[in-house]
Amino acid sequence: MGHPLLRQVAAPAVVGSPELNALVADMDDTMRDLSGAGLAAPQIGVSARVVIFEMKDNPRYPHVAPVPYTVLVNPVLTMLGEEQEEGWEGCLSVPGLRGLVPRYRRLRYRGFTPDGTPIDRTVEGFHARVVQHEVDHLDGILYPQRIRDLSRFGFEDALTGQMTPMPD
Ligand code: NI
Repeated sequence: MGHPLLRQVAAPAVVGSPELNALVADMDDTMRDLSGAGLAAPQIGVSARVVIFEMKDNPRYPHVAPVPYTVLVNPVLTMLGEEQEEGWEGCLSVPGLRGLVPRYRRLRYRGFTPDGTPIDRTVEGFHARVVQHEVDHLDGILYPQRIRDLSRFGFEDALTGQMTPMPD
């Protein structure tokens, strides 16, 4: 947090390029090493509209429904309905902290796999949350900017026992 790249709108990525495949490999390594639920290219210093995410027995996020491993290139989000819900988030670019963040409950996302195959999914709950968090990174937004009540933002260690489980 504080690095200029994390405040910038990232550039469109070129599907099917060797550079994109190398970027995704680096992102995979970083996400898995740090037990993240997701990662956006600007977080490893690359201005490109690429995010990855996965939720499978993640020790940083117990109590949440699984999300399939996904590489999403040049994503476009369409929020479905007005309903929002609050949930605790963390971010590998904001280490040691958690905050209660409102997100739309349902959305449709479209984009491409690295080889150019279209992706089109309608999701809700934690899956919708992680997509909103990661795509925010591509638009230069970090989750603390979305927190409505800053009394619900703090150090993970200090918040132990105060964080309710994720909604699903
Ligand atoms: Ni993040």
